Amino acid sequence: MSKEIQTEKEPAMSTEARRMRLFTRQPLSPLGKIAARGFLIATIACAAIAVMLTIFNGAPSRDIVTVSALLLITTILVTTRIRWMQVIATLVGVYILYMLFTEPFVIESLANPKGPNGGFGHFAGDVLIIAIAILAFVANIGTVLQNYHRISYQKPRQLAPAFSIIGGMIIGALFIGALAPPPAPVATLQNPQIPAGPGVPTSVNMGMTGAPIAVTQLQAPATTAHVDHFTLTAQTAQLALDSNTTVPAWTFNGTAPGPTLHVRQGDEVVITLVNHLSFGVTIHWHGVRVPNAADGVAGVTQDAVKPGQSYVYRFIALDAGTYWYHSHQFSDEETTNGLYGMLIVDPATPTIHADVDASVALHTWNGPNNQTIYTMNTTAGTLNQIARPGQWVRLRIVNTAETPSGNPQLVTLVGAPFQVVSLDGHDLHGPQWLTDTPLPIGSAQRYDLYFQMPSHGSVTLVTADDNQSYVHAPAFVIGQGSVPTRLPAIAKWFDLTTYGTPTPDPVTPQSHFDATYNIVLGNQMGTSLGRTGMTYTMNGKVFPNTGMLMVKDGQLIKLHFDNQTNLYHPMHLHGHIFTVLDQNGKPLSGSPVHQDTILVPPHATYDVAFVANNPGIWMLHCHNFLHANWGMDMMLMYNISTPYTVGNASGNFPD
Ligand code: C2O
Ligand code: CU
Repeated sequence: MSKEIQTEKEPAMSTEARRMRLFTRQPLSPLGKIAARGFLIATIACAAIAVMLTIFNGAPSRDIVTVSALLLITTILVTTRIRWMQVIATLVGVYILYMLFTEPFVIESLANPKGPNGGFGHFAGDVLIIAIAILAFVANIGTVLQNYHRISYQKPRQLAPAFSIIGGMIIGALFIGALAPPPAPVATLQNPQIPAGPGVPTSVNMGMTGAPIAVTQLQAPATTAHVDHFTLTAQTAQLALDSNTTVPAWTFNGTAPGPTLHVRQGDEVVITLVNHLSFGVTIHWHGVRVPNAADGVAGVTQDAVKPGQSYVYRFIALDAGTYWYHSHQFSDEETTNGLYGMLIVDPATPTIHADVDASVALHTWNGPNNQTIYTMNTTAGTLNQIARPGQWVRLRIVNTAETPSGNPQLVTLVGAPFQVVSLDGHDLHGPQWLTDTPLPIGSAQRYDLYFQMPSHGSVTLVTADDNQSYVHAPAFVIGQGSVPTRLPAIAKWFDLTTYGTPTPDPVTPQSHFDATYNIVLGNQMGTSLGRTGMTYTMNGKVFPNTGMLMVKDGQLIKLHFDNQTNLYHPMHLHGHIFTVLDQNGKPLSGSPVHQDTILVPPHATYDVAFVANNPGIWMLHCHNFLHANWGMDMMLMYNISTPYTVGNASGNFPD
């Protein structure tokens, strides 16, 4: 019986085969229809992305254009209904899937859907397009198998298409598995270690014993001001600096810089720090005149916040400007590895008009091969900011790290003349227009630039690789365009002592000073916290033996920095804003300058002065983290006591 049917069927099949010419068309099976529609939908989706990229970024990526074109070709090949063309379609499909799966952008957004380059839209888009492409690909394999194995599709047999799909998936998975790059091993950071052994202080109290007021009492007054609440969670993250480089980091809320906190002058700012790391963390509000209890210095104004615990900072944003925040427990390791972010205080009454207000943090990372990777807001490549021709832009720049040499990071703006409108967040008077002027930014310093977008093209912020020459990456491109191929040579540096125009200031070199302190900055081989090596000294001593500068509320205090080393020292005073009086004895000839961090060049002196109007125990230290970690810190003291201690009894090490 069955033999009879076979003999009847065989000749019919071979006639059919003989009639099948090279360009014979076959009707599309249901699987073929799925394949054709799937490839078409994927084509449209990819083309739409290419169009959107063109609109928002000025150009689509080459890969998306290639994939769209290949998808279109595949769609056409499938719909020819010629079976060998469908075979070619399958092969092209393999290449498309390979491209989709190895595209760095896709990998990044799939791996980190909430990351800076991802976003849920990207994630969903990538997942959908890849899913549709796989479906179409597998259906196409099924069609090919049906065509060549004469799996009937006029009288549908359920198992054949199902087997085709499974077979196609296995083939696809094998191809992708073989072609896709292996996932990079996940590197981790070593936790900061509490120093131990001889020479490491056990318990040093930085306060005045028996003083009438303790740090803990120096809180922000109760106000009826508008309150801005933020939560910053210290947590680990893997940061993709470019398509090939991911570094392990400690971050606030998963990114570095952490969230940029925008508040208004006069607001009450309340920040809850939650520690999800496995070691202590604090937050210092760099440059902000906070009450002492909110200063975030481990062992001085609080204990480092333990793993799993939280801490609330509360202060009034007294001054408008560009500030930043970072951990002040093991500042060197913790800030360098990502525990920092920006804080922007908008003026209560606007001073200058900006259509676009952008901010960028310059940072350096230790790469997988121990190389130094320079980034702008965590990108080692090009950062983009939309701005239209004619718009006014305020660009806020902070240096949150340091170059390997310890020299200031040089940046400039190419494409438009610009003004430096403020330094460390404090406005300058009568700033002149500058063109391509190199701006030296010491660690922790801020520059606010102001410029108008040209009628066409873009404006780019570039940096110099440790002062040698400007480099093309990282770069910040504002407006439509890309980093110029030719960058200017490094010209004469910006000089804050001659920039801007004079205007009366309450503090001048002629003011009467209640006290003047000389601070000699030195370096020598020695020991610091039980280690032997190059130490950085203040008046010949290393922290915590550097002593303290005693001041009284209301006094006008002058600090004389005398740098006797071959290195730059960005000297930072907590809790106060100082007026810069002179450099090397030469008074400022331009605008008055108010800063919280003064970059003292090698073998130079600077005089600065401030009104002691914020009682507490305040650090005065070099903001080159390495120098601070090896001794260059001291305290400014108002006769205040503290219940906290520095040393391995408490585990508090502010630097
Ligand atoms: Cu930016 Cu003592 O710190
Ligand atoms: Cu220094």
